[in-house]
Amino acid sequence: MWCTTRLSSFAIWIFVCGTVKSATDTDVRNLLTELFTTRSYDKLVRPIINQSEPVVAWVEYFLYGLNDVNEVEQKMTTTGYIEVYWKDEFLSWDSNLYDGLWNIYVPQGKVWKPDISLGNGFKDLKELGSDFIQVYITSDGYVLWKPFQIFQSKCNLDPTYFPFDKQTCNLEFVVWSLDIDDVMLLVGSDGINMMEAMESNGQWDVVSSSSSDETESFETKVIFSIRMKRKPLFIVMNIIIPIILLSILNIFTFQIPADCGERMGYTITVWLSFAVFLTIVSASLPKSSDTTPIISIYIMVQLGIGTATVLVSAVQSRFVSRSDDKPVTSWLQRLTLIGRSKVKPNAVEKVNIVEEKVNWKSGMAALDILFFWLFFILLAITTFVILMISAFSNN
Ligand SMILES: *[C@@H]1O[C@H](CO)[C@@H](O)[C@H](O)[C@H]1NC(C)=O
Repeated sequence: MWCTTRLSSFAIWIFVCGTVKSATDTDVRNLLTELFTTRSYDKLVRPIINQSEPVVAWVEYFLYGLNDVNEVEQKMTTTGYIEVYWKDEFLSWDSNLYDGLWNIYVPQGKVWKPDISLGNGFKDLKELGSDFIQVYITSDGYVLWKPFQIFQSKCNLDPTYFPFDKQTCNLEFVVWSLDIDDVMLLVGSDGINMMEAMESNGQWDVVSSSSSDETESFETKVIFSIRMKRKPLFIVMNIIIPIILLSILNIFTFQIPADCGERMGYTITVWLSFAVFLTIVSASLPKSSDTTPIISIYIMVQLGIGTATVLVSAVQSRFVSRSDDKPVTSWLQRLTLIGRSKVKPNAVEKVNIVEEKVNWKSGMAALDILFFWLFFILLAITTFVILMISAFSNN
């Protein structure tokens, strides 16, 4: 709509220029006097002759940069501007009378504007733009207004798949006080536009964007959606990999003989570094108690395995020093013998190996191997599961 108008104005301008002399400052002065003084322009009057019809305003959004997406406060901060245009029936003129002058600029405070504001904003409602911003007016009465702003909008972020998540955030522009019968908002021909600066956000990639206009009983609004994907590398390098490494260290507790005095010291040290690391990590995780990120569950499972390791080691260090006068419990004997024979004993061999002596120390060594593999498999499965969920979550 705008484009064709602008083009036709442009065509007229070229034609006028070719035949008549170009506009001078006197023409501009005369035009401003004509528009704002002679016709007594009043910016309180809705710029349409038939006051029972709404003024239609087209809105487009130009995104310069995604500054921040904050999980804690659930907000998105963007830099950009909206481009709003509408027809002001009291601001048109015949450019031939002004030596082909077909466009002027005036400060935004001089003309009527729809009271558009960010409906899902985070800060108090304020007039968009500022008085130094000029609106562009063409001879057929179209007014173009481009308020540049840092928009802070509310955005419900779902942390479930953190740090492999995708999020959608909206910017909703509404007409605040005026009724739908007064002003109607529509998405302009370009909808939402991304500038080159887009790629420079360190944490997020913009995947796609869309725009739509909505009309609810009394409200008219234009919604611009930005869909983005988190870049997970930082979290993977600084949280996930260290946790996996610590878990591996933890499992290797079972490679230290149970009667070695160092063992309890080692396992407690690993547990403590886990706990210290968790306090650092929790600062990077989304703070929400509504939805638990899968990664938090993963960390809890690893901490659980660490705690189990400490407990098992403590109990083992008690049994390993038990006197061999006391017979070894039968299930532990069986376990030890199975471990020794490597292959499943058949019925004949079973008779022979039961003769072998099992003491508490070798029983504990067999337990060590059992727990080593048990926790190793647990670590492998949980890590695999979390990676699979993340990889295939197209949330
Ligand atoms: C003004 O617009 C309304 C609604 O479109 C229409 O019914 C009415 O006839 C119009 N009045 C004039 C004077 O054109």
